[in-house]
Amino acid sequence: MKDTYIINTHSHANMLKETNIDDAMANAYNNKIVTIVPASSGEDIFEVDKFINKYPDTYGYLGVFPEEVKTFTDKTLSDMEGIIKQNKKIVGIGEVGLDYYWDKTYKELQKEIFIKQIDFANQMNLPLNIHSREAHFDTLEILKKYNKNSVAILHCFSGSLEFAKECIRENIFIALGGVVTFKNAVKAKEVAQNIPLEYLLLETDDPYLAPVPFRGKENQPMYVKYVAEEIARLRGITTDEVARVTTENAERIFNFYAE
Ligand code: NI
Repeated sequence: MKDTYIINTHSHANMLKETNIDDAMANAYNNKIVTIVPASSGEDIFEVDKFINKYPDTYGYLGVFPEEVKTFTDKTLSDMEGIIKQNKKIVGIGEVGLDYYWDKTYKELQKEIFIKQIDFANQMNLPLNIHSREAHFDTLEILKKYNKNSVAILHCFSGSLEFAKECIRENIFIALGGVVTFKNAVKAKEVAQNIPLEYLLLETDDPYLAPVPFRGKENQPMYVKYVAEEIARLRGITTDEVARVTTENAERIFNFYAE
């Protein structure tokens, strides 16, 4: 592979346990990988703010994700706004969304907090990095109804090709990670093969879901290379082409150079 940068659009590098975090970030940097780290709770937004300032080519999203909706308080949005104003490395709102696999009893609360954060992203004019698990229909309906001006990205996309096409019709981007390298991941491979490259983004979602040949081990930001390689293989193009186009896509979405 040549010298093209890869943008890893979703990496919880701050949550690595078995891997030394400084080493993992150096590995990513030395391999020309730009890493974006999402926040997950009302407290985690402060952690992400600090974490991304420690490393070069590392950016962040602020948001409260479905499992942590109870940490969303009256002051969460003003806390986020305060951070966004002083840290130019915050490039989006995430991860936010719906997870009905995790818990169906908080469905209404999840929706309410998701909508509040969509409105907030719209006000801040920032893209949305979205977690959607077993909630595809509601996620799309809510985005259609409430999202006015933010680019939306479905992270760790787990839907069918049909659903991916429906999202793309709504100008929603599809981010694929390590799952696409799994032998039995028929749906993810089909999506990787068939959606327009212009709507594709790469990610790892580390420390989870390490790609082959590291499946089952702890994932890390640099492994996004294996995701790019597998997508290139599936599409019959070079890894460099996958890197180049997905990086162009990310650079259109995120303002990396505001610092
Ligand atoms: Ni995540």
